Amino acid sequence: MTGGLHVTVTGGAGFIGSNLVAWLLRQPAIGRVTVVDHCSTGSASLLGSDLAHVDFRHGSVLDTDVLDQALAGADAVVHLAALPSVPRSLQDPVASHHVNATGTLQVLQAARRAGGPMVVAASSSSVYGAQPQLPKREDSRPMPLSPYAVTKLATEAYLGAYHACYGLPVLPLRFFNVYGPRQQAGHPYAAVVPRFIDAALSGRPVQVHGDGTQTRDLTCVDTVCQVITTAITQQIVSPWPVNLALGTRTSLLELIGQLGELLGTALDVEHTPPRPGDVAHSQADPVRLHELFPHLTAVPLRDGLARTIAWHRAQRPQGVTTPCTS
Ligand SMILES: NC(=O)c1ccc[n+]([C@@H]2O[C@H](COP(=O)([O-])OP(=O)(O)OC[C@H]3O[C@@H](n4cnc5c(N)ncnc54)[C@H](O)[C@@H]3O)[C@@H](O)[C@H]2O)c1
Repeated sequence: MTGGLHVTVTGGAGFIGSNLVAWLLRQPAIGRVTVVDHCSTGSASLLGSDLAHVDFRHGSVLDTDVLDQALAGADAVVHLAALPSVPRSLQDPVASHHVNATGTLQVLQAARRAGGPMVVAASSSSVYGAQPQLPKREDSRPMPLSPYAVTKLATEAYLGAYHACYGLPVLPLRFFNVYGPRQQAGHPYAAVVPRFIDAALSGRPVQVHGDGTQTRDLTCVDTVCQVITTAITQQIVSPWPVNLALGTRTSLLELIGQLGELLGTALDVEHTPPRPGDVAHSQADPVRLHELFPHLTAVPLRDGLARTIAWHRAQRPQGVTTPCTS
């Protein structure tokens, strides 16, 4: 690839990162994509055939040499690398802090050394925590309930500070519950959508923490990729965090119902105790998002779930029979 913008994606071998790389490679305005990932929760294999079209740097965002090489000549950095889980941060808060908070600081320092490319970074709706206001507005007080949420608050605060102190063009985005193809199910910290689909396709009951009335603002990964790609190509920046979700509110029981309709079979549900650090309700106020991205066309939940189910089915070994093959 020659000409066009050079974009570096940290965490580019993860769920959102690998989807984003595929999006970026399709943009005529983008000429070069570099990925930094040390493949802890992600895997280079998630990039599939895109791996041949990116400059893949196997290394950590805590390694300044790796960052300096990956950011040399970059026009934009999308910082997604993190240990992305509330329960994981309860198990090992210091590890989450190192990767998520110190890692962000290192990326920002590397961006300064690289001449000040735009930095887009992933924050999280978990920063709202115990904040009771619904929908969640960016100017309401963050009340984190987990070490992970604190690391994400630090991430977005560092971006704002680097804009104020060094004039770095930044865009901190608060992701809500992102789902879609390439999101892995088979690990202890898996998110609800892949967990539920995998269980259903395997004929196991879906495990719901609590009574299932907790609500989430589910966002298809394609919508996230569209926003980030538009931000880079149109230089849309904001020192203040921006919710990246559409203001929808789906309870886990509703989600299970929709999955059952798409799979053609009702899902068995097994309730387990609520998890510490989990928030009851999460719904974004999307006003700021729409102001910055007036032409955003979000993927409706049903379409996104159908794409996700199709991906999970395609991953399953040939010949495995499941009760959900309609
Ligand atoms: N998926 C969601 O619903 C969601 C919600 C809110 C925020 N986020 C944030 O979005 C970002 C991407 O999340 P995801 O769901 O794609 O998770 P993921 O685990 O699939 O991706 C994270 C990637 O970062 C890499 N990584 C971890 N530590 C690293 C390090 N020290 N150096 C380099 N690479 C490292 C991992 O190997 C992985 O490929 C994360 O910052 C996460 O906190 C995600």
